[in-house]
Amino acid sequence: MTTIRTRVAIVGAGPAGLLLSHQLAEAGIESIVIDRRSRAEIESTIRAGILEQGTVELLDTLGGFSRARTTGARHDGIELRFAGEGHRIDFAQLVGRAVWLYPQHEVLKDLVAARLAGGQDLRFGVTAVRVDDAASDRPRVIATGADGAPLEIEAEVVVGADGSRSVVREAVSGHRTGYFREYPFAWFGILCEAPPSAEELIYSNSPDGFALISQRSATVQRMYFQCDPDVDPDAFSEAQMWDALQARVPGTTLQEGPIFQRDVLRFRSFVAQDLRKGRIALIGDAAHTVPPTGAKGMNLAAADVVVLSRALRALLLEGDERLLDTFAETALGRIWKAQHFSWWMTSMLHVTADASEFDRRRQLGELRSVVESEAGSRYLAEAYTGWPLE
Ligand code: DHB
Repeated sequence: MTTIRTRVAIVGAGPAGLLLSHQLAEAGIESIVIDRRSRAEIESTIRAGILEQGTVELLDTLGGFSRARTTGARHDGIELRFAGEGHRIDFAQLVGRAVWLYPQHEVLKDLVAARLAGGQDLRFGVTAVRVDDAASDRPRVIATGADGAPLEIEAEVVVGADGSRSVVREAVSGHRTGYFREYPFAWFGILCEAPPSAEELIYSNSPDGFALISQRSATVQRMYFQCDPDVDPDAFSEAQMWDALQARVPGTTLQEGPIFQRDVLRFRSFVAQDLRKGRIALIGDAAHTVPPTGAKGMNLAAADVVVLSRALRALLLEGDERLLDTFAETALGRIWKAQHFSWWMTSMLHVTADASEFDRRRQLGELRSVVESEAGSRYLAEAYTGWPLE
């Protein structure tokens, strides 16, 4: 059994874990990040593409390693489409803020490169099994190394940034899980080789269901359409996928091209019952899951990191435990606002099989209350671009 000692043991090399280790390193606090996946797997998993302004500003602290502003594209608005009409939500005019289209796996490449260039301890293929001595000041992560040998990391703080199937969560919440919501639909996502069909994102509500027209680059596009959670993505022909998308964005002729990637994203809302116990804390998807509408997942992880890194600086540099004591309460304020926003965008835009004619007309009334009211539009713009970080 190899034992490693460090100040902060971070389980999970996703955006939350890597960003936290970066913020700690900036403050001179040593940490180790482990992940059971390989570097190639982490850097190639397709996820959402929208960064809030505050997330981009946080990534700016990576210096030249963040390509969000250079390779990514600034978006000053989105379009809501319903009843055959498009309505632009102008972020710049409403809240003076913007978002950046820059996919999560590109963020991860930047973060990994920055961590490795900084000589940080980042280990792939290392699987956390459990946390021991959870109630003490020296909790230990029990893991299996890339070579299959047992490995133990003893730290002053253990952070679970290990995603929705978190192993660390067990040490924080025990048998108590959290607050859940399931949705009766999913997104069918595609990546295709084609020029963009629109300059900005289109969130479209149609009688056939929801569609999102997003982008990636001049030659690659990302689009989604609402589907049944149990569909088999391989059962669709390319023509069927284009028909499904096209029917859901009346008024736009989509630029079609070869579809080279397809996936089904299930919808869930979740907040863990507890985010901290003693010297163990949860951030990112280990602490919460949001449905994808509104792209809050990675942005919420970045916001957790801001709150936790401040608490860990106070604890580990000044011996002041007060911010760690209030970490969960502070983080949960934003988490529940983002939960509400993601649920609201989802329920306002999707169509359920059991919707009555009343439900359908009420939904159109809700969409009109957003686009025809400056207050309504401003709430959407404020939440979408992200509430200010502390
Ligand atoms: C993307 C995903 C989202 O969930 C969203 O709300 C906007 C964009 C994307 O993958 O491009």
